Amino acid sequence: MQHILHDSRRFMKTNMVAIVAYFVPLFLLPFSLYLFSIILRRSSDDRKKLPAGSRGWPVLGENLKFAHSPEKFVTEKMSKHSPDIFQTSLLGEKMATFCGAKGNKFLFSNENKLFASWWPQSLRKVLWFPQTNSTYNRILHRDVLSPEALKKFVPVMDALAREHMTRHWRPNTVVKVLPLSKIYTFELACRLFMSVVDPRRVKKIYDPFSEVTRGILSVPVDLPGTAYRRAIRAGGFIRAELMRIVEQRRKEMQRDFLSKMVMLRDEDGDFLNEKKICNEIIVMLLASYDTTSSAITGVINHLAQFPHIYNEVFKEQMAIAESKGPGELLTWDDIEKMKYSWNVARESLRLMPPAVGAFREATTEFTYAGFTIPKGWKTFWTVHSTHKNPDCFPEPERFDPSRFEGSGPAPYTFVPFGGGPRMCPGKEYARLELLVMMHNVVTRFRLEKTIPNEKIVYHATSTPVHGLPLRLHPHQK
Ligand code: HEM
Repeated sequence: MQHILHDSRRFMKTNMVAIVAYFVPLFLLPFSLYLFSIILRRSSDDRKKLPAGSRGWPVLGENLKFAHSPEKFVTEKMSKHSPDIFQTSLLGEKMATFCGAKGNKFLFSNENKLFASWWPQSLRKVLWFPQTNSTYNRILHRDVLSPEALKKFVPVMDALAREHMTRHWRPNTVVKVLPLSKIYTFELACRLFMSVVDPRRVKKIYDPFSEVTRGILSVPVDLPGTAYRRAIRAGGFIRAELMRIVEQRRKEMQRDFLSKMVMLRDEDGDFLNEKKICNEIIVMLLASYDTTSSAITGVINHLAQFPHIYNEVFKEQMAIAESKGPGELLTWDDIEKMKYSWNVARESLRLMPPAVGAFREATTEFTYAGFTIPKGWKTFWTVHSTHKNPDCFPEPERFDPSRFEGSGPAPYTFVPFGGGPRMCPGKEYARLELLVMMHNVVTRFRLEKTIPNEKIVYHATSTPVHGLPLRLHPHQK
């Protein structure tokens, strides 16, 4: 027995040695290869001329500096490192920021060649159903934001703007423009994108939205008490509510916007499933909410600030109002007459841009302005490298709508909606909404700021710190 045990122990020992001798190199080999590849990559990265810049703190990167003032961040980096491109670290990623009209042109013209769309992890996790791996489906742009669809939106926008004037914009009171613009924008999106009109149902989705917008561009650290954790929870709630609406609509099959989506097919010819539709709706709600309400607030801010600009807009809008019968709603043709007002809106978008820019991923290694951008790096373009750049807009701080007369600003300098194939698909929708709101406010009231030099800060979008309180003076009849 002893002998057998001893033999078997010796046998096991010999085998263990054999096993170890066999397996250790098996594990070590890939490990050493991995180490070797890191060293190789390091040294090849060292040989490359990467864009100059800094990466800030581990994990946090330069997020805090950027969030504090994106405009200052970009301007300082451009003058310190290069007017063409600099590197930084944002949202946990190494990032090359392309600057100036040249940088915008390069990025917008190489869409799908050198760059692919990229959405930060924080945004994806908060917003979408993870299983669907969906971001944004450009079929939507073609079908549901088509010129024919947009033409039908104008009277709906006007009807809701009038409802809002009666409900919230009372003569001789002080109103806060920013929160009111947010409610209008969101109610409009719910009405147009989902036929959800019931204010209680709108409120159910609206309330968690502010949590989402606060958390999506935060550092993605999912810990109790963080804005990111709250945004994830709010995102889950919104998805559940939207799923109920989409499922119900699929059953009813009404001929509205959402029903059109229910009938859409993806690239493989399959109908979009409910989760994908929810993802699409969330993108549309989010993309239209903060941006457009900030744009409305910006325009009204400038109208209240510059009486000579207000007077010109007033003349244009009153001529349109007087051409219409009592109670007759605005149409597409009316919008086409609002030329001066649109120049004013664009000048306001230049000085108070609602979106800072957007991200991409480099799909291959390439060089730009003498610097190497390695494959897999994230890239960023930003309105702040051109909108207030005196080379693109002389006396950039001056509010001057005439910059948009004739052929307007030089190409790739005025980019509040981006450019190239990925340009914002909601640009026309935003234009209509802005002009309809300008019409409704200006034809009813003269505007007086109660805080004359209210500070504008950046909270996910350009924001007056006190929400832009205004006194509304009705016109004398
Ligand atoms: C004044 C209001 C708005 C501004 C300033 C704005 C600005 C932008 C910008 C800068 C981008 C990024 C473009 C890029 O990736 O290069 C974008 C993307 C997008 N916007 Fe807008 N937007 C506005 C309103 C809207 C509205 C009303 C909608 C929907 C109805 C919308 C839907 C989208 C979508 C879906 C994308 C993603 C497009 C893609 O990745 O292909 N936006 N927007």
